Parts: sequence; structure tokens; C-alpha cells
Amino acid sequence: MSKATVIAPSNIAFIKYWGARDLERVLPTNPSISMTLTRCVSHTTAELLDEGGADEIFLAGDDGTLTSAPASFAHRIQAHLERLRAWAGRREGLRIATRNSFPASAGIASSASGFAALTLAVVRAFGETPTPAELSNLARRSGSGSASRSVLGGFVEWPARPIGEELTEEHAHAVPLAPADHWDLRDVIALIETGPKDVSSLDGHRRAPTSPYFEHRLTLLPERLERVRTAIRERDFDTLGETVEEEAIDLHLIAMSSKPPIFYWAPGTLTVLEAVRELRAEGVPAASTLDAGANVHVICPPSSEARVVERLTAIPAVHRVIRDRVGPGPADSEDHLL
Ligand code: PMV
Repeated sequence: MSKATVIAPSNIAFIKYWGARDLERVLPTNPSISMTLTRCVSHTTAELLDEGGADEIFLAGDDGTLTSAPASFAHRIQAHLERLRAWAGRREGLRIATRNSFPASAGIASSASGFAALTLAVVRAFGETPTPAELSNLARRSGSGSASRSVLGGFVEWPARPIGEELTEEHAHAVPLAPADHWDLRDVIALIETGPKDVSSLDGHRRAPTSPYFEHRLTLLPERLERVRTAIRERDFDTLGETVEEEAIDLHLIAMSSKPPIFYWAPGTLTVLEAVRELRAEGVPAASTLDAGANVHVICPPSSEARVVERLTAIPAVHRVIRDRVGPGPADSEDHLL
């Protein structure tokens, strides 16, 4: 019985994927840039069953128990298993078990790590060795575009194609910008809400073009992307931090002005954003960013981390703080969940 286990990390976007030119094929409107994390991971085992066998999808508990995945979740996984089988020319059913090290659907990209881990585990169980570009493209086709970045480590851009230029499948994968050891950056995540969000990022992408600010952001992005690429190359935290905050606010500006509008923020979100501004005023380099949720990721150099953790932990609206950092990407594991 062939089985494989992979641990794949989440990632945090500095420049966001928000809006698609083709949502069905997961072709984004604009390039995004992210940092792959270390501690926020999905741990997934894929086991081959008989040819034509029905797929079985389980959520694994920390104590080793397995429960059948809820239908909505299993449905997305199953659709991806079909894609992976078609790609590999295989017919076997698959037994899947997966768990996250962090709360799912809470603005920490669980679909990015989840679909990166699933793609890799299944491909390994099939005994296939795709190129990094093929792997990224396979993860992208899961429906979670950000998963295409999580198969790579360090600092990543997806896709390496200017806005407005034709984007074919061939160029729709993510590419590495710099390895994890190029720049030790930390991500202190303030968990304000841990339940599932009301509006999925899929719906967010769908609604984004209805915002009057959507097109305007696209005109700003070429320069903003270049600023982030240069800041990473030169390890220039001030420029990175300023740009990352600008970009996160734009994402939420677009969400809030979409039709119908989407409000991801909670009152605690504003408290954390203010605390980070105060820290900066006190001379502690740190910058906030948010995905499609209320939680705030505070990006900072190692020298700021302890002060950031201390300040965020003292905020009553913050349930918990996760200390994460840039990392090398997914890894195979012998710690099988099945
Ligand atoms: O990959 P998706 O479809 O879950 O979309 C991700 C959207 C953001 O997290 C808000 C931005 C990003 O680039 O990760």
C-alpha cells in the first residue's frame, strides 16, 4: 500500500491576490508576493486504495483520532483528487487524513497550506516527481491560488507575469524570489477571531471587481510590486513595512466597497493596528498586514519580536499570539496520520 505524508506551511502575502481574470482556472488579475511560514502548517497523509475505489477523507485530531470530513470540505478535496488523478493518469481511490496546526478559515491561509500539503502528498503517493513549476500549477488548480505559493519556501512571487499581459497555464505558477535564509523575518499573528469567516476568499475574489477602487489599485501595483521586490532584495525593512501596510489596507478598502460589501475586521483588529503604529513610534520596527479575516499578521525583524509579542498579548481582544517566521517550504514526513 503506497502512502505519503507531507507537512506544508501557510504563507502571508505582502502583495495580495485579490480578484481573478479567470476564477474557474485560478488565473489572478495581479501578481502577488508572499513569505512562506514555518509553524502554521497542514499535515497530510495520502494513501492509495484499489483502482476505482471511493475516496475517503478524514480530519485527524491531535490525539490520533480520525473523523469523516464535513461534506463541504470533503467536496473541495475530492474535486482536487480528481484533477490530480487526471494529471497523473491514475485510477486509484485515495484515503486522505489532514490536520492543521492553527485554526482553519480564520484569515490564516489554511487553504494555502492545506492544498499545498494535499497536492504534494498525493503526487508522492503516486510516485511522481513533478518540477517545482508543475507542482505550483497543480496546487493553484485546487481553487486556492495562494496554495501555488506555499509549495515553495522563502519569498515567492505568483505569477511572474505583468498585469494585463496574457497569462497562459505555462506561466501561471509561482517562482522563488529569495530563499528563507536570505532574510530572517518574523510574523507575529494576533488571533482575534478563530471561527470560520462569513465570506470566503473565493467570494471576495468574485466581488472584488465591483469595487470602484479595484481598477485604481491595479494602476498602483506595478510600482508597489517593484518596491517589495527591491525591499526583499536589499533587506530594507522600512520600505517593506510601509508597502505591506498600504497594500493590506487597499485589500480591505476593496472588500468593504464591493457589492455587496465585505467587512472582515473586528473591533480588536483596529486595536492591534493602533498598537503596531505605537510600537513604531517607540522605535520598534513592525508592520501590519491582514488577509481575508480579522486577524493581524505583524511582520518584524527578530530584534522587534519580543516587544511585539508582549504588546499584542496584553490586548484583551487578542485570544492568542502565534510566533511564526519565514521558512524553507514543505517537507516529507514519516509521521503518517493513517
Ligand atoms: O488563495 P485564496 O483563494 O484563498 O485567496 C487568498 C487571498 C488572500 O489571502 C487575502 C491574499 C493572498 O494573496 O494570500
